[in-house]
Amino acid sequence: MQLTAGIALLGHGTVGEAVAQRLEQDAETIERRTGVRCVLRGIATRRSGDARALIDDPRVDIVIEAVGGTTDAAEYVERALDRGRHVITANKDLIATQGPRLIALAASRGVCLRYEAAACSAIPVVRTLHEALAGDHIYAVAGVLNGTTTAILSAMERGAEYDAALADVQRAGYAEADPSNDIESVDAAHKLALLLQLAFESAIISPRLRRSGISATTREDAERALSLGYRIRLVAGALRTPHGAFAEIAPVLVRQEHAFAKTSGVENVVRIDARDAGTLWLSGLGAGGAASASPILGDLITLLHAIAQHPEHGTALTPRFEPAIEIVPFFHRLSRHDALPQYPVWNDALFDERNFRHEHYATT
Ligand code: HSE
Repeated sequence: MQLTAGIALLGHGTVGEAVAQRLEQDAETIERRTGVRCVLRGIATRRSGDARALIDDPRVDIVIEAVGGTTDAAEYVERALDRGRHVITANKDLIATQGPRLIALAASRGVCLRYEAAACSAIPVVRTLHEALAGDHIYAVAGVLNGTTTAILSAMERGAEYDAALADVQRAGYAEADPSNDIESVDAAHKLALLLQLAFESAIISPRLRRSGISATTREDAERALSLGYRIRLVAGALRTPHGAFAEIAPVLVRQEHAFAKTSGVENVVRIDARDAGTLWLSGLGAGGAASASPILGDLITLLHAIAQHPEHGTALTPRFEPAIEIVPFFHRLSRHDALPQYPVWNDALFDERNFRHEHYATT
């Protein structure tokens, strides 16, 4: 018997358009890999305004949400889960602020909520934390998670002024609709919260994380850092120690030879430290239509495999979180450079588990 899955695509911006293309071009590949034929039941755009009717269409099994933001997207995702549709989303704002609630809703309705594309686009960091390291104990996550700020900081190192550098990134299409979300670290805080939910199995939401942005960083700072052997990068970091959990996002000085400093433009890099796996480094494209379509299609294929084999086991693909743990800032524990004292100096020794016993890590 031919298995089919009805798909509803919500949103037709950069990501939605790339997904629609893939669904059309790769339909046979998806069927060959999963044994399930995908049928696109409709695409709801902001202008067409028919998202609710499409979600309610009884022939829809899976809703792919690429609307972005939290206003309409939250309503659509909730509606879809409530009606028993599996949901795949690229929406980091939504997962970082409401993920635990939506995941609980998905579980109660016996459906999946998958979101690999929501953090660091092409880098499979959600799967790494939730699936590959499921048998390990993850105690640290850190990285450069926002491409817009990296592009601005590296342009300033080359002598560009802040405003011109920002305008260039906006033209390239990587900045958020409201670029202050990039500049003020809202975007990076969303991604870190989303990763910490998985790493620390805890219902952490992004407003709980201390963040500072790069709006006070000048071309002179960027050039000065370079002359001292550093680069300024917006780093998001978190640790879970026996004394408590720490997280913060801020611009820091990173030695030029460090992987965080070597990022340029839209590339993201993530470091994960786990008890048994040790230190893992993941890097790749953190934004863009194709870079987001890849993990969305990956989520779709995983979901189709599950549906084809054990329809009732689909919810095992969705994470579960314990209540939120307390998280406190920690970048004030980093040292400062005399020549640029407004920036903490990044130090990988923070991630050495042997140091965790030290009272330096006490949260009180
Ligand atoms: N504005 C984001 C960035 C896009 O610059 O990284 C991907 O989330």
